[in-house]
Amino acid sequence: MAIEINNLRRLLHTVEALSELGPALAAKREFSETARLMLSAVMEAARAREGTLFLFSDKPAILTSASSQGFALLPDPAFIPLLPKHVHALTAAQGPIVLNPSTYPVFLSSNGNVAPELFKCLAPLKAGGALAGMVALGRRSGDALYETSELDALELLCTYIALAVHNHSLTLTIAQRVSENLRLMASLHGFYDTALEAFATAIDVKHVNIHGHSLRVGRYAAAIGEAMGMQASEVAALRSAGYLHDIGKVAVDRRLFSKPGALDPEEFREMADHTTVGHQIVSSVQFPWPKIPEIVRWHHERNDGSGYPDKLGQNDLPMPVRIVGVADSFDAMTSARPYRGPLSIGSALNDLVRMSPQKFDPNVVQGLLIQVRRDAVGSNRSPLIEGIPVNIAAGDIDHLAATLQHKVSHAKAYLT
Ligand SMILES: [Fe+2]
Repeated sequence: MAIEINNLRRLLHTVEALSELGPALAAKREFSETARLMLSAVMEAARAREGTLFLFSDKPAILTSASSQGFALLPDPAFIPLLPKHVHALTAAQGPIVLNPSTYPVFLSSNGNVAPELFKCLAPLKAGGALAGMVALGRRSGDALYETSELDALELLCTYIALAVHNHSLTLTIAQRVSENLRLMASLHGFYDTALEAFATAIDVKHVNIHGHSLRVGRYAAAIGEAMGMQASEVAALRSAGYLHDIGKVAVDRRLFSKPGALDPEEFREMADHTTVGHQIVSSVQFPWPKIPEIVRWHHERNDGSGYPDKLGQNDLPMPVRIVGVADSFDAMTSARPYRGPLSIGSALNDLVRMSPQKFDPNVVQGLLIQVRRDAVGSNRSPLIEGIPVNIAAGDIDHLAATLQHKVSHAKAYLT
């Protein structure tokens, strides 16, 4: 009885540990750590000395290790190609499988860089009826056999792990696909605005309520750069960075964009991961403008360190990052959300001035004011802001500019 209670405690403890890991796995850099924690939890529950967590990908069907512990000589990564009969057998298995010499060829091939005989017990990871990965355990202390209680614990834990692994593969696949497309485009005669515009439109298709967001952010960022006296090449880089800043959103669950209320902490984390996932995507592409990856990663950072994902402060944020941050916020404020209507141009500018320099760079906001003023007096060749009335008089913009100017000259006092 004492043993059973201990088992139960151990089981509860590990389930608790796993559920805390949650689905926050969008970013690759976090997954290796999560994989390690999940594997430790499983090995503790099954009292295994050796174990490997494999991820499955089809086309071609192959298991690749994501984390491994205890094996003396396991290659990293270890991989095992699978034949259709193996995939079928692993998918059809009900719960963990204790292996013996006659069952190895049923579940695994020996064509990989690891001998199947190293494993004593397999737990296929399935999500939505499809194979997502596999936990393979080796020897236990004293070479003991795997008993029913360990197998039960393993089965329970593996339902959690399967979801996490599945979630991770989904994210990775989408991010990889997008990155591949971008690379392809970059290899064709450099980058053209029109090609990037098409990309920006594709990113926004997902946000049912924010159509055209990326295109507008690109336009606003370029206009701010121009008003700040930047060179043509820098302005072009800002436009492209604006087009691509939210590219990581291709990996965010679509339903989060139309959720009528505020996001819960878990959902917020998933949404926030679009910065790091986006960074991963664009980092593998050779852009003519080297700053794109950092702009994609840091466009939600704020001067006072309250942003994400790296909580950088004012001095760590390059000017193009600050510019895209303001352009992004301005468009977010003036666009409708499922839970609120759009702010007017005047109110949005007011808010930006109010939040400078704590959140935003006053010089950047000043650049935006210059451009909106040109719209207000009709001196922009083509208006910067389309589809919403510029309901603020030039005099009011001048007043905001003066307030901002005052803040710039007293920046230290405001940055507390
Ligand atoms: Fe964003």
